[in-house]
Amino acid sequence: MAYQTIIVEIEDYVALIRLNRPEALNALNSQLMRELGEALTEADRNEKVRCIVLTGSEKAFAAGADIKEMSTKNFVDVYTENLFGDEIERITATRKPIIAAVSGYTLGGGCELAMACDFIICADNAKFGQPEINLGVMAGIGGTQRLTRFVGKSKSMEMHLTGRFMDAVEAERAGLVSRIVPASKLLPEVMAVARKIAEKSQIAVVAAKEAVNRAYETTLSEGLLFERRNFQALFATEDQKEGMAAFLEKREPQFRDK
Ligand code: HXC
Repeated sequence: MAYQTIIVEIEDYVALIRLNRPEALNALNSQLMRELGEALTEADRNEKVRCIVLTGSEKAFAAGADIKEMSTKNFVDVYTENLFGDEIERITATRKPIIAAVSGYTLGGGCELAMACDFIICADNAKFGQPEINLGVMAGIGGTQRLTRFVGKSKSMEMHLTGRFMDAVEAERAGLVSRIVPASKLLPEVMAVARKIAEKSQIAVVAAKEAVNRAYETTLSEGLLFERRNFQALFATEDQKEGMAAFLEKREPQFRDK
């Protein structure tokens, strides 16, 4: 499918989706969010995709929602269209794993978009922030909830109320990102991680992803039960037999997603 605000490439069972509005530091407008949703739906359906990487440019993953597009909207507009509400839910509804490969400015809706992915690997030049407060508004697609779960109340509250940016080192220390890599190596490193995930049994990958995500949705005992049931269910797969036999036979497993 031809997109104008994103670029999609599929290689080695990994879909690489690049946000592509360089003139606006990849600010998220309605067209970009719609196209991203469509690309994720396609990727979820495509048998040649087993992992998804979402990235921007070296200068910016995304500098937030498009302020120009938002500036003339009133309450009824954003309420009626539920601005980016459905689109952000499309990200979290994606079954295949999504890694955010983040470099440069990752602000406002950009930070929220990264946090809606399954995990974030960032470049050493990454800057995270929820600066909506400087525009007289606040985060609107998950920032107050997800950032707080990632980094705790104090840091989240400070960031939302002051609009200050967090650098890569602080983001890693606080648990917002899984790790930091040099900016020039970001994409090769993240693509290698994605290829590694793509080699696993996709049944186990989706089951594990769903179970980790339950930790943010439910009580500990419900989450533990969900995990245990998923673990037990995986013993109904051929991939479990293959994975364990391969270990015992000291060879690489050949998973068939069965
Ligand atoms: C529209 C944006 C933009 C944005 C940057 N640009 N961010 N356009 N929306 N969020 C545009 C600029 O207008 C400029 O266009 C070009 O990109 C380059 O940006 P500069 O400001 O010239 O670059 P620089 O001086 O390097 O500063 C980078 C920056 C700054 C610190 C990231 O651009 C900035 O503060 N941007 C806004 C960040 C922000 O407030 N984000 C939150 C948005 S609200 P021209 O045409 O002038 O060259 C939000 C709500 C989410 O995200 C909830 C939605 C439901």
